[in-house]
Amino acid sequence: MQAKRPSESRTVMTDMVLPSETNPINNLFGGELLARMDRAASIAARRHSRRITVTASVNHVAFNESVPVGSVLTVEAVVSRAFRTSMEVYIDVWMEDRFSGERSKANEAIYTFVAVDENGRPTEVPPLEPENEQEKQRYVGALRRKQLSLVLAGKMNPQEATELKALFT
Ligand SMILES: CC(C)(COP(=O)(O)OP(=O)(O)OC[C@H]1O[C@@H](n2cnc3c(N)ncnc32)[C@H](O)[C@@H]1OP(=O)(O)O)[C@@H](O)C(=O)NCCC(=O)NCCS
Repeated sequence: MQAKRPSESRTVMTDMVLPSETNPINNLFGGELLARMDRAASIAARRHSRRITVTASVNHVAFNESVPVGSVLTVEAVVSRAFRTSMEVYIDVWMEDRFSGERSKANEAIYTFVAVDENGRPTEVPPLEPENEQEKQRYVGALRRKQLSLVLAGKMNPQEATELKALFT
């Protein structure tokens, strides 16, 4: 299969935070942000694979900043590495200042998607060829994160997690 560039999967979704999506202190409810990120990441995985994709795991989420009601939020998702049937998708969330229009980083997350056929069976995806420095860094780290996710899910023997072990030796 022909390799694809990260830019081919990049997905950007901008939307406002409405009162019905907030917690009792008027900040965006965490589950709503997870859903927005899942939707953008799912589109990115689909753009890379041109297959049906399902969320296999949420590997990392950092709610570093609260997002007040009325904020304009932009979710950017891009495939950071493709393996055989799975893809790591990196998600950056930006908040736009109401008055200056300046963007600041609100959150980030890393999800794993698997491409499946009509019967839900995992199916192969094209490889990814990172281009710029950030894409290359994320690409390298993705194997370590995949191994950690599989170990935590009980799907990989920690002894076989070579990339993870290399961090400590
Ligand atoms: C995701 C799913 C297809 C994986 O099925 P499976 O039987 O584990 O399939 P495999 O063992 O062949 O794994 C398929 C790929 O997923 C990866 N994978 C599976 N579980 C993973 C996890 N927890 N973390 C990271 N990668 C994972 C495997 O490493 C493999 O990747 P590779 O082919 O690129 O090397 C299956 O578990 C499923 O359909 N889950 C439900 C998905 C869903 O409904 N999501 C929405 C939740 S509401």
